Amino acid sequence: METKILTTSEYDIAIAGEILKNGGLVAFPTETVYGLGADALNETAVKNIYKAKGRPSDNPLIVHVADKKDIAPLVKEITPKAQALIDAFFPAPLTIILNKSEKVGKVVSGGLDTVAVRMPENEIARKVIKASGCPIAAPSANTSGLPSPTKSKYVVEDMMGKIDAIIDGGDCEFGVESTVITLATETPTILRPGAVTKEMLEKVIGEVQVARAVTEGMKKDEVASSPGMKYKHYSPKAKVVIVDADKETYEKFVNGKKDAFALCFEGDSVNIPKVTFGRENDDLSQAKELFDALRKLDEMGAKKVYARIPRITGVGMAVYNRLIRAAAFTVIDLKKPFVIGLTGPTGAGKGYVSNYLSSLGFNVIDSDKIVKTIYEKNQNVLDKVCKVFGNDIIENGVLNRKKLGDIVFSDKKKLETLNSIVHPAVIEECEKQAVFPAVIDAPQLFEAKAQDKCYKIICVTADRETRINRIISRDGITKEQAEKRINSQFSEKYYTDNSDYVVCNNGENIKTQIDKILEEIL
Ligand code: TXA
Ligand code: MG
Repeated sequence: METKILTTSEYDIAIAGEILKNGGLVAFPTETVYGLGADALNETAVKNIYKAKGRPSDNPLIVHVADKKDIAPLVKEITPKAQALIDAFFPAPLTIILNKSEKVGKVVSGGLDTVAVRMPENEIARKVIKASGCPIAAPSANTSGLPSPTKSKYVVEDMMGKIDAIIDGGDCEFGVESTVITLATETPTILRPGAVTKEMLEKVIGEVQVARAVTEGMKKDEVASSPGMKYKHYSPKAKVVIVDADKETYEKFVNGKKDAFALCFEGDSVNIPKVTFGRENDDLSQAKELFDALRKLDEMGAKKVYARIPRITGVGMAVYNRLIRAAAFTVIDLKKPFVIGLTGPTGAGKGYVSNYLSSLGFNVIDSDKIVKTIYEKNQNVLDKVCKVFGNDIIENGVLNRKKLGDIVFSDKKKLETLNSIVHPAVIEECEKQAVFPAVIDAPQLFEAKAQDKCYKIICVTADRETRINRIISRDGITKEQAEKRINSQFSEKYYTDNSDYVVCNNGENIKTQIDKILEEIL
């Protein structure tokens, strides 16, 4: 098929109108992204939209009108809240879902009983719809799964040869698709955030909910309130990872990363190849540039991309919603004090792993050392310990750890009491010492309930026999004593079940195992 490239002249718009009237497909600019239009009431034409985009047929299309009065025939009823939104916002980057009328076919609505309607703000868009004389079904004019097109050149890339015409109307003003709100549910619910924010909507119609899937991934077997939620979206060819960190931590994290690209804000100082999407405190600029940036990364051949996290309020919610889908919900949370928690049962050879991480430049915090210092110097902790276990565990001003050990290791309740005094102090001190990228080496990570403070947890284990032999030669104790120690800890299964990664340290290819894990984490 030959695809005509049209201008925004009155003459060309009239041509576009004719093509649409006759069941053809025309891509045109809107204030959000380019749309791929067809007569919404012509079933064959609508089917061709799905074909050109490669879009699943159960994912409904938005019906666009040029005039407010053209909405009524499409819906069962314009509810009072719908009327309020239409009065307050239309024409706008806002789509309203209502129960559909008989007039709207099942193909447009993806088999649902509802229909999505929108009156675009962009004048060219409205002129095209008007010229066609029909309501226009129009999804974003991209190949299904790719970022929506914010410039005509991207429509050309995706649709050339597949549709009748493309109107070149320059760059889109907002850059992310319209806000989609359903009024077909008890409480109005945002299914897709956009330039018309929750706050703006609430001013007009009161309480508005945000569908959980807007910021989180769909759970397995969850039914999507909007079919579009369940499909892969906005995905560039590169693997995108969102980095939840402030500017400085982000820069430290990405700088020096091999074979990776940064998707960051203007002014971020990174020394790897980068593409920016707007300015840090300007969510409108981020919305406008995000899809363009994702497409640019593909053009540059990026394989791995570290993206800076946008703020999730206002229009930022729309930006985050698109970015998290582009990243397939992968977020590295560097706001946690520890990048890695390193733990494992006694005798597993955790020390070797911690030394190796340290040699790679991680700042390893040794929690055992911190415990020791606390027993020596933290008067507050010592006072509490004495209060519970008696003053005679202090000898010549020094805490007798062996004596304390004898008391607590044969009495689980007492051990728990001691832990409840000591662990918070240990965590506090570890946090104080944590410098990115920090690793906390903590045999008692789980006992101290410090796992939530770690981005990822690596557990080091080894065969039971190996561990017993290591403990015997390390501490000069009997086999029986070694076994007793092992049995007093969590089971090996507990460690592995509660960790993200397991290193098996029987003495072979440990570095290879760790390198592989680090590659995945970072
Ligand atoms: O800004 C926009 O809305 C652009 C421009 C071209 O107007 N259009 C657009 O359409 O983004 P599309 O098809 O790419 O996205 C429409 C979204 C999809 O996620 C779809 O599942 C949802 O709206 N949707 C449409 N009708 C629906 C309905 N009846 N119920 C629930 N969700 C619906
Ligand atoms: Mg789309």
